[in-house]
Parts: sequence; C-alpha cells; structure tokens
Amino acid sequence: MGLSVEGVSVVYPAADRRPPVEALSNINLQIENDDFVVALGASGCGKSTLLNLIAGFLAPTSGSLELDGNTVSGPGSDRAVVFQKHALLPWLNVLDNVAFGLEIQGISKEKRYEIANKFIGLLGLDGFQDSPVYKLSGGMQQRVGIARALTCDPKLLLMDEPLGALDALTREKAQELILNIWNTTHKSVFFITHSVEEALFMGTKLIVMSPRPGRITNSFDLPFSRQFLAGTPARQVKASTEFIKLREDVLKIIFADEEAAA
Ligand SMILES: Nc1ncnc2c1ncn2[C@@H]1O[C@H](COP(=O)(O)OP(=O)(O)OP(=O)(O)O)[C@@H](O)[C@H]1O
Ligand SMILES: [Mg+2]
Repeated sequence: MGLSVEGVSVVYPAADRRPPVEALSNINLQIENDDFVVALGASGCGKSTLLNLIAGFLAPTSGSLELDGNTVSGPGSDRAVVFQKHALLPWLNVLDNVAFGLEIQGISKEKRYEIANKFIGLLGLDGFQDSPVYKLSGGMQQRVGIARALTCDPKLLLMDEPLGALDALTREKAQELILNIWNTTHKSVFFITHSVEEALFMGTKLIVMSPRPGRITNSFDLPFSRQFLAGTPARQVKASTEFIKLREDVLKIIFADEEAAA
C-alpha cells in the first residue's frame, strides 16, 4: 500500500504571454508505509509541484496518484503539509496553534488540548503552551508547525524545505528531532530539501530531480538515518567514508544536470 504516483505529468498552462511550463514529466514514485522519501534537485525542477499533487492541492495533467488504493482527488486528513515558512496564526498561543487543525474538525476543546499537549511534549515545547508564537525563535515556530501537522494523525507527512530558514546548529538538531519523531510515530514522509547532506542523512530513499521538464533522473536507497536511530551520533554518520562518497556522487549528478540544462 502507501502512495503510488504513476506516469504523472503536469503542464501549467500559458499565462501572461508566457508559454506553457512542463513542470513534471512521467513521474513514477512509490512511497511505502514507513518510508522517508527525500527529493533533491535544482530550483524549478518541480519538487513543490510534486508535493502539491500528493497533497491534493493540484491535479495532474496526465497520470494518476493513489494513496492506499484510493485516487488522490483533493486534500484530506490522511496527509499534512509543513511549509518552509510555517503558516502559524500569530494571534494564537502555541497550544491553540497546535490544536487548530483539530478545532476545524470540530473536536471538543478538552480532547484537542489533550492531543495537542502530547505533540507539544514530543517536539520539546513543553512549558511554552501559553506563549504567543511571535515571541518564539524560528526553530521553535517550525516545531509548532510540525506539531500541528502531526495532531491530525496523517498517514503521510509532506514537508517542503521545512528547515531551510534555520541556522546550521538548529537545523541539525531539527533533523535529529524529525527522525526521532518519524521513528516513534511510523509516518511516511515526503521531504524536500536543497541540502545534499540533509537529504542523505534523513531519507530512506532519495530521488534526484532535473528541470525542463521536471523528472526523476536518479534514485537511491539510503542507510544513514537508520544508523543514527540505532545509536551512531549524527556527526559520525555524516563524516563516514560511505556518506562522504555518496554525497560527492550526488553532487556530481546535480551539477551535471544543471550544466546539461544550462
Ligand atoms: N502556478 C504555476 N503556474 C505556472 N508555472 C508554475 C506554477 N508553479 C510552478 N510553476 C513553474 O513550474 C516549474 C516547477 O516549479 P516548482 O515550484 O515545482 O519547482 P521547485 O523544484 O519546487 O523549485 P524551488 O526549488 O525553487 O522551490 C518552474 O518552472 C515554475 O516556474
Ligand atoms: Mg519548491
């Protein structure tokens, strides 16, 4: 089961005297339950378009998407999205931001606070329930956004460059936190990043995409997140010979794709 993307293409129609854009061409992708799939590729290669298709915000021009055997025909509570810029509600505190999705579903205050508090604890935000979100650091705000996405218990968590705006140290800590959450909640994840190191460290599967038209040019199975979850320190995983070799191989592929597209 899981998500299957079959023969999907997306053409954005011509607009404002600009020609149509073939944003994705013949994408085939399987995300199994428990997979952590990471997408890497130059700007404009269609990563966010693919995420928006999976989220159901956009329909494919051709091809099909199925989640657990059901055609994806719009957004649903089986999928949750975390964006690069957390879409938090600045006038609400941490607890109400995290509980917001449950409120929309009409769940009682007592129940939604109970669920929200569980994920606030999981994301290391205990004690900040009453803080207005604008007073938090960027890394904490991003954790509020992740906690909110998790409250609806989605099967598939979709993350579009969720850590792109964080400083290096906070980013590494957030990577570890997301892996630990993935390991305890058993979600499937589709994660977009521009960082090769982040992609290799986080994913169980990596897809490398290339632009004009957007397509998957390479894919790899990855062992590194499981090494970290089995107890090897993150920096040790990232400094291993195997990791560095694959990092350089993937960088070569991305640079070659960019030169070919230039
Ligand atoms: N709504 C839209 N209408 C027209 N063209 C679009 C639209 N959204 C994206 N595009 C075009 O489709 C292509 C793929 O865009 P997309 O945002 O999916 O790329 P991306 O890989 O996420 O890029 P980035 O790394 O910069 O976020 C680009 O050429 C972009 O200009
Ligand atoms: Mg994008």
